[in-house]
Amino acid sequence: MHEKNESSDSDFDVLLENLQADILKEEQEIYTERTLKEAYNPKNVGELKKPGGAARVTGSCGDTMQIHLNVKVDVKEDLSDKIVDCKFITDGCGASVACGSVITEFVKGKTIEEASMLTPESILAVLGGLPEENIHCAALAVDTLKAAIANLNLNH
Ligand code: FES
Repeated sequence: MHEKNESSDSDFDVLLENLQADILKEEQEIYTERTLKEAYNPKNVGELKKPGGAARVTGSCGDTMQIHLNVKVDVKEDLSDKIVDCKFITDGCGASVACGSVITEFVKGKTIEEASMLTPESILAVLGGLPEENIHCAALAVDTLKAAIANLNLNH
């Protein structure tokens, strides 16, 4: 009885491994290596304790992204407002996780002006493209970033 259990456990493990390998193979056919890397190991996931700017946007697909920002005046350089920290959360697809990771990493250290110029194409360029049905996921990340910037109170 014990032996049978062990054997069915290992059968199950093999089945699971094969399934995971199949899924990965399928994903590799659809997404770029960079997209998979960002989706499986996203940077800057979470919330800031006291965000200077925050926004939550729901995209056309019904998924939501939240971005928190903190900005500081760069007294060492040009007195511009620079993004010093940025975090995101999404309940969206893997592509939206990859887009959130890329956009939050990109804006850190950038001025508000530079961050405001980002477009979905900027994210697509970093990721090496996304399938047509995931282009709106990049737009969701950009729209959320812009809403978080608009939410900043820069009266200092
Ligand atoms: Fe909704 Fe990607 S964010 S499908």
